[in-house]
Amino acid sequence: AHQWRGVVAEYADRLPAHLLERTVTLGEGGTPLVPAPVLSERTGADVYLKVEGMNPTGSFKDRGMTAAMSAAAGRGAKVVVCASTGNTSASAAAYATRAGMICAVLVPDGKIAMGKLSQAIAHGARLLQVDGNFDDCLVAARKLAESYPVELVNSVNPDRIEGQKTGAFEIVDALGDAPDIHVLPVGNAGNITAYWKGFREYAGLCPDAPGGSLPAVATRTPAMWGFQAAGAAPIVLGHPVTEPETVATAIRIGNPASWRQAEEARDDSGGVIESVTDDQILAAHRVLSAEAGVFVEPGSAAGVAGLLSRAERGLVPAGARVTVTVTGHGLKDPQWALRTLDGADVEPTRVSADVVSIADALDLS
Ligand code: F0G
Repeated sequence: AHQWRGVVAEYADRLPAHLLERTVTLGEGGTPLVPAPVLSERTGADVYLKVEGMNPTGSFKDRGMTAAMSAAAGRGAKVVVCASTGNTSASAAAYATRAGMICAVLVPDGKIAMGKLSQAIAHGARLLQVDGNFDDCLVAARKLAESYPVELVNSVNPDRIEGQKTGAFEIVDALGDAPDIHVLPVGNAGNITAYWKGFREYAGLCPDAPGGSLPAVATRTPAMWGFQAAGAAPIVLGHPVTEPETVATAIRIGNPASWRQAEEARDDSGGVIESVTDDQILAAHRVLSAEAGVFVEPGSAAGVAGLLSRAERGLVPAGARVTVTVTGHGLKDPQWALRTLDGADVEPTRVSADVVSIADALDLS
């Protein structure tokens, strides 16, 4: 029987050779591409969800982290650092433990979801809550890596992008060709950069890339549609946001490191980068969990929110094949499920342990 070996081994012929010297893997990637009839019906398109919550630490970051950590291990690194809104820290902590390295993580004080915080601690990271936002954390992490013997594993590390481009490969492998449109949330803008690179490489457009001389797998590239939270939408506004705010803490970022690359992906692909409000994000979060059966964290719902918003405006071509990366698992930040869209707490119904009261509570009698 075939056992999935993780993205570095599975896509070795299209990744830099230095990742293979000492590969650090937890079996990431190989995530399901799930058809979403509910979203297809609402948009008039043919919509699939790339469910990245199925990765070992529950987010797409694991694809990048296996690559960054393999490179660091190959160089004999002892200590890694990252700034994070939560998922990167959870992933870095797990992979560093696996590699026998020390992992320092800088997170914005009070603004990271409990599940992610728990993961970083569980995996033994040196967790520092910084008095500042993600952007402040990233500046500090970069300086630390410049001045001390510490490797930076944020997505400004090119190996992270190499690993994350495999998400695009898997989508094309599953569908037999590229979709018409690929949708994803945008925070620090590493993932939109990585997907665009992956789609281009698979279409044979990057002869100088690792494996660039291999035959093309796709005949075309998709339009890239990225969505930022309205309170943290620097790319949409065209200037940094000094105090980003959104319920989607994963993408609460005011000055994305890969800003220029995101604009390039948007423009070269004929795509868009737009913003969605917190209400739209939470409504999409609800559609995904209550109608599609897919539980994601709020940040991950931003892409779906954007897709639904464009559909309402008549901007989704009928019958288009659309893939959406839903980036992180709902269990990372479960509190949103326990609240109605009006903000009221959801209380479980209490019953005694007899079958009649249970049947009554279920309106079966
Ligand atoms: N979705 C989730 C669940 C994320 O955690 C992130 C980024 C994004 C989307 C946006 O991806 O930054 O590549 O544009 N989280 C980072 C972190 C910033 O620290 O975990 P991006």
